Amino acid sequence: METLLNHITPAQLAGIRADFPILSRTVHQATDGSQGKPLIYLDNGATSQKPRAVIDALAHYYSFQNSNIHRGIHRLSQEITVVYEKARETIQKHLHALHAHEIIFTRGTTDAICLVASSFGKRFITSGDEILITEMEHHSNILPWQQFCEEQGAVLKVVPVTENGALDLIAFGILLGKKTKLFACTHVSNTLGTINPVKELIRLAHANGTAVLIDGAQAVPHMHVDVQDLDADFYCFSAHKTFGPTGVGILYGKEKWLNEMPPYQVGGGTIKTVTFAKTEYADLPLKFEAGTPHIAGGIGLAVALDYINTIGLDAIASHEHALLAYATPQLQAIPGLRIIGTAPGKASVLSFVIDGTHPMDIGTLLDQQGIAVRTGHHCTQPLMARFGIPGTVRASFAFYNTMEEVDKLEQAVRKAVKMLI
Ligand code: ALA
Repeated sequence: METLLNHITPAQLAGIRADFPILSRTVHQATDGSQGKPLIYLDNGATSQKPRAVIDALAHYYSFQNSNIHRGIHRLSQEITVVYEKARETIQKHLHALHAHEIIFTRGTTDAICLVASSFGKRFITSGDEILITEMEHHSNILPWQQFCEEQGAVLKVVPVTENGALDLIAFGILLGKKTKLFACTHVSNTLGTINPVKELIRLAHANGTAVLIDGAQAVPHMHVDVQDLDADFYCFSAHKTFGPTGVGILYGKEKWLNEMPPYQVGGGTIKTVTFAKTEYADLPLKFEAGTPHIAGGIGLAVALDYINTIGLDAIASHEHALLAYATPQLQAIPGLRIIGTAPGKASVLSFVIDGTHPMDIGTLLDQQGIAVRTGHHCTQPLMARFGIPGTVRASFAFYNTMEEVDKLEQAVRKAVKMLI
């Protein structure tokens, strides 16, 4: 595929879609073998689909490269160690991190946040200190801090969200206090699509002496992220939402913090020497990578990032913006439909509720028409409480979605409403 610059043409979109085998399947085939509904996949916020290049990389690893990294003198092990460490460098370049050893492979975003809560927390946060999060966080960026505070006697504070789903920046300024040791914030809300002004938030936090963790799970698949430009202390994301494999994620951490932090999980691979009296731990990044990692997953993630870069993040952002701009008025024109999350400049996530219907019922009826969306609280129950709703229907777009799919979504929602009301 040729490198695209600012937009994706219809012909290029067809080529991109052909790279994703799953996009050609149907769902709900009848038992008599008659054809089902073409799959319209609008649940990219939950997990994105995988291009053939990623699938092939996984099959290639297990077919021809399978061996353990960092442990073997034999040829296979040495070869795969080089491939795995090259994958780390690909991820470093993608995030524009200063050092490859600032890239820690984890099991996912959740694991990365738990690592920081446990390790940074133990080293730098004590009883009476404050941790600041926001009302729009995914449970993964709430529970580790809540648990830490409960165990260590620290205090959890929460920046509220305004009616349109933006962060209340005035409240942020008030809540960021002298005791705030860490601010943990999502880059892009998985439920609202709000893109937080993280660079400015980090600047303000640093001026206050507060370290910052950014949950980039919903950002990295859709936009340029430069951790040095943001000056983030910690930035994490998941491979599986970024067109890569499940079970692997990334924690970027500034070297100065990672060096000071104790290991999170300990075990094989994290050490220099072990005696029963004392263990000397390995240097970065291995200090934080206990046990045999998801080797194929790390390699597959690098292939996924290469794939994204072949299309180009500007073209991806522009295409997804066009999908959002096309879909928003179409959905808003449906009587009784209310979009939750209308902050300016938001990402391509459309969460909505419809008067007189339950999100689960709408989701089920959309599924019967071949349309995959997510329904429920999206692991953001406090945000649902903020808006006084039990859940939403959420359509979340990726670069392989089309305007025709948006049309079908709108028609299917209208049909569902007609059946329910
Ligand atoms: N966090 C994922 C979502 O928003 C699972 O759907």
